[in-house]
Amino acid sequence: MISPLDKNNPPYSLLLLADPSHQQIQTYLKTGIGYQAIIDDQVVGVYVLQLRSTGHYELMNIAVLEAHQGKGIGKTLLQHAIDYCRQKQAHTLEIGTGNSSLSQLAFYQKLGFRIVRVIPNFFVTHYDEPIFENGIQCRDMLILSMQL
Ligand code: COA
Repeated sequence: MISPLDKNNPPYSLLLLADPSHQQIQTYLKTGIGYQAIIDDQVVGVYVLQLRSTGHYELMNIAVLEAHQGKGIGKTLLQHAIDYCRQKQAHTLEIGTGNSSLSQLAFYQKLGFRIVRVIPNFFVTHYDEPIFENGIQCRDMLILSMQL
């Protein structure tokens, strides 16, 4: 079941899987649109969208509990986000991810997103500590986009 996120009780442990910054999460939760996936009364997945400009949404966060990953829940949530944006007559949905986030790049491209821009050194400039994933330093932000 997918239901609107309870902003008074956000699932931080899940949201932190996708974004290490508690502060950033709090900021976009205030104005964002969030939904959660629930199985047997447990929140197992979440996503948060933000309206960037007229017709343009950005996916700020999407996460599925580790024990539930690889079962199609992320795909269902992302499809829900796409459908939400289409219902709002939006034209573009964008997602920013790191150059080292290989699983996420596979996930988004399989759902039809295309890499449209690179913001060089984004993670070097905006994060205090170097980030490594898959043995690669996360330096650049890749922007993936879907025309709706
Ligand atoms: N490599 C290749 N393909 C992958 C993949 C990987 N590591 N992970 C997922 N996929 C593919 C699946 O094979 C599936 O493709 P298919 O439809 O052709 O079978 C598709 O992506 C959907 O997979 P799904 O099972 O719905 O993904 P999920 O429930 O595990 O959710 C994430 C995906 C990214 C949300 C989840 O792994 C997660 O929460 N990761 C940690 C948080 C995070 O990094 N969030 C994104 C921040 S940018």
